[in-house]
Amino acid sequence: QADTRESLYLVSEYANTYFQNILHKTDQGKSIGLSYFKERGFTEDTIEKFQLGYALDEWQAFTDEALKKGYNINFLEGTGLTIVKPEKHFDRFKGRVMFPIHSMSGRILGFGGRILVNDKKAAKYLNSPESEIYHKSKVLYGLYFAKQSIAKDDNCYLVEGYTDVIQFHQTGIKNVVSSSGTALTSDQIRLINRLTNNITVLFDGDAAGMRASVRGIDLILEQGMNVRVCSFPDGEDPDSFAKSNTLEELTDYLNENAKDFIQFKASLLVKEANNDPIKKAETIRDIVNSIAKIPDQIKREVYVQECARIMDISESVLFSTLAQINKKES
Ligand code: CTP
Ligand code: MN
Ligand code: MN
Ligand code: MN
Ligand code: MN
Repeated sequence: QADTRESLYLVSEYANTYFQNILHKTDQGKSIGLSYFKERGFTEDTIEKFQLGYALDEWQAFTDEALKKGYNINFLEGTGLTIVKPEKHFDRFKGRVMFPIHSMSGRILGFGGRILVNDKKAAKYLNSPESEIYHKSKVLYGLYFAKQSIAKDDNCYLVEGYTDVIQFHQTGIKNVVSSSGTALTSDQIRLINRLTNNITVLFDGDAAGMRASVRGIDLILEQGMNVRVCSFPDGEDPDSFAKSNTLEELTDYLNENAKDFIQFKASLLVKEANNDPIKKAETIRDIVNSIAKIPDQIKREVYVQECARIMDISESVLFSTLAQINKKES
């Protein structure tokens, strides 16, 4: 079992080197992959640091090379990099730029691969499947590069995607990780919780991004952590925003726009339905439900006061609602 896992790591690490070599040393890699990354504004240093690569637009280029080098077909299949069919095998990633996913200690667990031109037929990102070494729900993209900064700054920025993490680093903000396509899980939050008590959720300026971050808030509160939320202008995400701003502008934007989760939820109400009393009641209930997740009683009290003030409702009503929720759940 441990031997199998080690073999899967070795295959993944070989693949990581292979995809990087393709990017830097082949005509297709340079003209398609490397120029794609350059167009996105990634520097050579950034491409090196994150070990970005390219998978040739061929059916089995990677697998054939790996077999030639002596890697076992079962382990190639075990990482999901090779798909084995009765009569043949082929590469999972084909004609995509590659983002390796590192463990906390820097080993390669899997990959995300992005198509180069957006078309509706192919998924924009294809990711390694679950395997004996890659458990999506327990991995955060970028944690290997961020862990020291998260502890030092005592805060972690949580973004949606690979390129958000990378562009933040390039701009100069290193305490950033991404759940990369999966809905945020408690296991992922626990990884952050070992380093800091503070998470700032940064979501894409679209409806999907907002819904995803709202779901994550309660999971973060449940672990006794402080959560702030910051949105980006319509159509922007952390990557595009960081790309078109300096470090100082980005830092200022984050500091000015990161809101406490209560202010954030209240601001959604203002946006959606200004004076609708039904919506307002729903929002208050929603906020109280979130407050109920907070383990620490003193914090709960402080947040009740905050909610009462912002939503202009009495604390006593909020406290009795909170008591009802706690009763139901125990
Ligand atoms: N994702 C995925 N599969 C998809 C789309 C997205 O796994 N078909 C994941 C990827 O990890 C992606 C993240 O969800 O990075 C956020 O998605 P999105 O905002 O659509 O992509 P971006 O990261 O902004 O990618 P890009 O800027 O390259 O379009
Ligand atoms: Mn594991
Ligand atoms: Mn998005
Ligand atoms: Mn995005
Ligand atoms: Mn993007």
